[in-house]
Amino acid sequence: MNIILIGPPGVGKGTQAKFLVEAYNIPQISTGDMLRANVRESTPLGNEAKQFMNAGQLVPDSVILGMMESRFNDSDCKSGYILDGFPRTIPQAEGLDNLLNNMGQQIDSVIVLDVNHEEIVKRLSSRWSCKECDTVYNLLFDPPTSEGICDKCEGALYQRDDDKTKTIRQRLEVYSRQTSPLIDFYIQKGLVETIDGAGKIDDVKERIFSVLS
Ligand code: AP5
Repeated sequence: MNIILIGPPGVGKGTQAKFLVEAYNIPQISTGDMLRANVRESTPLGNEAKQFMNAGQLVPDSVILGMMESRFNDSDCKSGYILDGFPRTIPQAEGLDNLLNNMGQQIDSVIVLDVNHEEIVKRLSSRWSCKECDTVYNLLFDPPTSEGICDKCEGALYQRDDDKTKTIRQRLEVYSRQTSPLIDFYIQKGLVETIDGAGKIDDVKERIFSVLS
């Protein structure tokens, strides 16, 4: 099963991807997580990406496509994957089509998650993530048991640099301008299921599983 999750920042792509990973036993491939790992390790790719990410802008398509080409070669991608945050522009979607053609693969489903932008600002300004295992919490909707500490691994929780209100609004603007045209791109291929991302995390999960089953 090869699934793409599309939606504005903070809509719940990463949260819902974890449920799909469990259900289908396939990896979540988050370009945001991959870029943040490169930034943490100060790789040349991370150093180039950091300035774009902190400004709420997209990292150049050529960088992302190079990174994804090498990720698809990993053995855990053989039985499928959940693409979270990729593709994000029409050139990335076209690049993905080329990579898939070369691998003899295709996308099975594109899940588009949607939530109003004020709710997104609220979600992202209260998001905290674990430095060690990347588990995501929300101080308002899904808090850790002990403040600042991960329930799963006891790692320290931190707030992402791009989750400041001004940067969140910039990311939303970039989404509307550069990423939302992808919805039509995939509608034309007959692959899109649109899901209401509002409400409880488990309710959104049920909506997604009902269209995939
Ligand atoms: P990336 O890491 O992909 O960020 P994003 O798309 O902006 O998405 P987020 O991770 O912020 O949100 P999400 O939808 O996963 O929400 P989550 O589940 O965490 O990208 C970051 C940056 O990297 C980009 O700005 C760009 O610079 C660069 N980049 C990445 N990919 C790129 C690409 N392909 N091309 C170019 N540049 C790229 O949920 C958010 C919060 O809400 C959490 O606290 C969660 O607990 C909570 N929550 C989730 N669901 C619910 C619910 N139903 N109710 C209440 N709270 C909820």
